Amino acid sequence: MGFHSLKDVLQEQLEDLHSAETQLTAALPKMAQAAHDEELQKAFEHHLEETHDHLRRSKEALSEIGASTPTGVCQGMKGLIAEGEEMISKGGDPMACDAALIGAAQRVEHYEIAAYGTARQLADDCGYDSVKELMDQTLDEESQADKLLTKIATGGMFKAGVNQKATV
Ligand SMILES: [Fe+2]
Repeated sequence: MGFHSLKDVLQEQLEDLHSAETQLTAALPKMAQAAHDEELQKAFEHHLEETHDHLRRSKEALSEIGASTPTGVCQGMKGLIAEGEEMISKGGDPMACDAALIGAAQRVEHYEIAAYGTARQLADDCGYDSVKELMDQTLDEESQADKLLTKIATGGMFKAGVNQKATV
């Protein structure tokens, strides 16, 4: 089925996000478990709770536009999670591993921020105010999660550990 209207595009975006969030609910516990830094671990655990809400909102949004629960797989998120798992499997210095984990997690957040920005705009264009509101809520939480990761990464963690070791 091709795209015949913006609503078709919105539906495709929501279906993709539904798959992305489903995959993330399975991946985030592994990332939390792999984190060495306590603040980072808590950030992943907190975002897992939020991700359950994101999944619920994606289902609500699909039902608002009269679409059923999708079965397709978001290949973008699949690839990002595979990269995250690759980072986890490498092992090594705890702080360096956490830095790699943050890099993988921020790729995920930025992917989602882009997708929710698109879905939000399409919902607005199509006059689905309630869907726009749902997308706004999730978009805000994804942005906050990204900012928290930046804060953890720039809060002295790298300077104190990884860089110091690199100069020895
Ligand atoms: Fe999310």
